[in-house]
Amino acid sequence: MQVLHHLNKVDDPNVLVGFNAVDDCGVYKLTDDLALVQTVDYFPPVVDDPYDFGAIACANSLSDIYAMGGKPISALNIVGFPSNKLPLEVLEEILKGGSFKAKEAEVSIIGGHTIKTKEPLYGMSVTGVIHPQKIVKNSGAEVGDALILTKPLGIGIITTALKQGKISSDVEKNVTEIMTTLNKNASEAMVEVGIKACTDITGFGLLGHLWELCSSSGVGAKIYLSRIPTIKEVWDFASKKIIPGGTLANLKFVEDKVVWEERISEDAKIVLTDAQTSGGLLICCPEDKKERLLDLLKEKNVSNYNIIGKILEDKRCKIKVEM
Ligand code: CO
Ligand code: CO
Repeated sequence: MQVLHHLNKVDDPNVLVGFNAVDDCGVYKLTDDLALVQTVDYFPPVVDDPYDFGAIACANSLSDIYAMGGKPISALNIVGFPSNKLPLEVLEEILKGGSFKAKEAEVSIIGGHTIKTKEPLYGMSVTGVIHPQKIVKNSGAEVGDALILTKPLGIGIITTALKQGKISSDVEKNVTEIMTTLNKNASEAMVEVGIKACTDITGFGLLGHLWELCSSSGVGAKIYLSRIPTIKEVWDFASKKIIPGGTLANLKFVEDKVVWEERISEDAKIVLTDAQTSGGLLICCPEDKKERLLDLLKEKNVSNYNIIGKILEDKRCKIKVEM
């Protein structure tokens, strides 16, 4: 965020990744072979069910650690709750959902803080560990790398339609499952093959996050619309202009950074910039490691991954989108 850039010019040599990078987490070196990876995220409900909301918020908070190839170990709950408007059972369900997900991730929740707010808010501050030489950054992409996306797009549009009461319970179940799926297995697969660049797809949409990756690596990219996994109902809602505000802002932001093939529709542009909650990883994989990574993703039951394009040489860091 722009406002952060003027704060805290840190000159501690143990800060391996800090404010001046666009990376998913901060990284602080403790010893030559151990560093802390830290991140925080919280937001208002994206689904009606409080337990599911808790699980989604937890999966989303852990995701930045996974994107950097770290292993999350502990977390603190961050809670806002309107205790004058909602029964405490709702809060209990949110926390249960979060703690169930944390347990699945083998992360210990060791504390937290609650304040009174107008609407519920939930998320976590997460601490992980990583080897200082094995940090997977936005800036590590190399020309020729294949781009692999591990979850389908459309979460922002579908949850917006959900808020308007326009989706069936089957679609709600599907999007909830996508959001509560941890990026843990995908991350472990990439760590095992030794990947240098990755990010997770969240509020900035696929193209926003891909652009961050390209610009910090000094490369361009090409992606193919036909290869990008999407939640199938998303196309109908995009054509009916049921679109989150964040997605429209993302599209505006990337306009001069993307070269669209003529056949790419306005709806497709919306889907490719859709703001995600707890989206997938976008992994940059060198050609000689590709087969091994794809095998591992399959072995670890990552269900919706696909090779969506590749990294190109381009000092202007443009992203080409083709059919
Ligand atoms: Co991130
Ligand atoms: Co984040």
